[in-house]
Amino acid sequence: MNYIGSKLSLLQFIEEAMDNVVKTDVHSLLDIFGGTNAVASYFKTKNLDIYVNDIQYFSYVNAKAIIENNHPLTFETLKKAGIADPFEYLNNLKGRKGFIYKNYSFEGTKEKEHQRMYFSDENSKLIDAIRLKIRLWQRNALIDEKEYYYLLACLIEASDKVANTASVYEAFLKKIKTSAQKRMILRPLDLNIVSQGEHMYLAFNEDAKELLSHVKGDILYMDPPYNNRKYDTNYHLLETIALYDSPKIKGKTGVRVELNKRSKFCVKNEAADYLEELIKAAQFRYIFLSYNDEGIISLDEIEKIMSKYGTYSRYEKKYKRFKADSNRQYERDYTVEYVHCLVKR
Ligand SMILES: C[S@@+](CC[C@H](N)C(=O)[O-])C[C@H]1O[C@@H](n2cnc3c(N)ncnc32)[C@H](O)[C@@H]1O
Repeated sequence: MNYIGSKLSLLQFIEEAMDNVVKTDVHSLLDIFGGTNAVASYFKTKNLDIYVNDIQYFSYVNAKAIIENNHPLTFETLKKAGIADPFEYLNNLKGRKGFIYKNYSFEGTKEKEHQRMYFSDENSKLIDAIRLKIRLWQRNALIDEKEYYYLLACLIEASDKVANTASVYEAFLKKIKTSAQKRMILRPLDLNIVSQGEHMYLAFNEDAKELLSHVKGDILYMDPPYNNRKYDTNYHLLETIALYDSPKIKGKTGVRVELNKRSKFCVKNEAADYLEELIKAAQFRYIFLSYNDEGIISLDEIEKIMSKYGTYSRYEKKYKRFKADSNRQYERDYTVEYVHCLVKR
């Protein structure tokens, strides 16, 4: 998924910073702003207990599927009920006119105040049909919890691939683009199974500060929002497919009315204080913070805050800019990415 702030291409840089700073035995890592869970996924292979968290439910669903789950899935009960291959079955469902079709497809919204075209008519009906079937299977105990999150994570990924957007869900395109015209295909996600002794893999769906009041460990990795681009509005449709809660929606984009997941990291005069609260509360010896040179909190402020709590150091790297909108002009096509490191007293 093309996710704002994804660290997929910075994993080695983050690991190098950690290797330089961590000098004692460590057994656990918490990726507290998981997003696509790329970082947690990478460190899952490094002989550690992994905890991963995000305030967005769709990110949590993905974490349940690819981080928490560490065993092959058999879909035994479905098989006994005559469904040999859930993917083949779901991909061949007839579309249904559900919440996604009625609110986010052109045909489904043509009589409404706001016409939207986030998905083709066919794909929006298919998303509804698959989402409803996954829910029915869960309610009828035809799939267990692990299988439920796994299928749902696959649906979120597949839906995102056929979305008629430039990348995020702040807006849809006026004409349906080629990739959005293709029929959606649900594909199995890589399960990321590791076998290195007994480790704990746990996913959480909480506000970062709440989580730090009850989870402790060795390494805390923090990759918060850098600016006022809010994840809840940018990914509202993935959240709605994940929750499938028929929310109240509003405006041209059909964003969820209750966006109660506003991050303090997106608010200029709250971000630095919130960062300090997290660092203070963290019961972790090593803290690593990813941030860039265009973020709301300045480099000096971060250094000042982190230095209060122990030994501070920092690593930097030029990084190609994330472009959600290819027409937007930027002064530079790169940013400087930092990993701020703290060995807590
Ligand atoms: C920069 S992204 C993380 C990207 C991630 N490292 C990756 O590689 O995909 C920041 C994430 O923080 C989450 N977030 C924002 N505020 C939060 C909070 N207060 N508590 C927990 N998660 C939060 C957002 O939902 C978003 O997924």
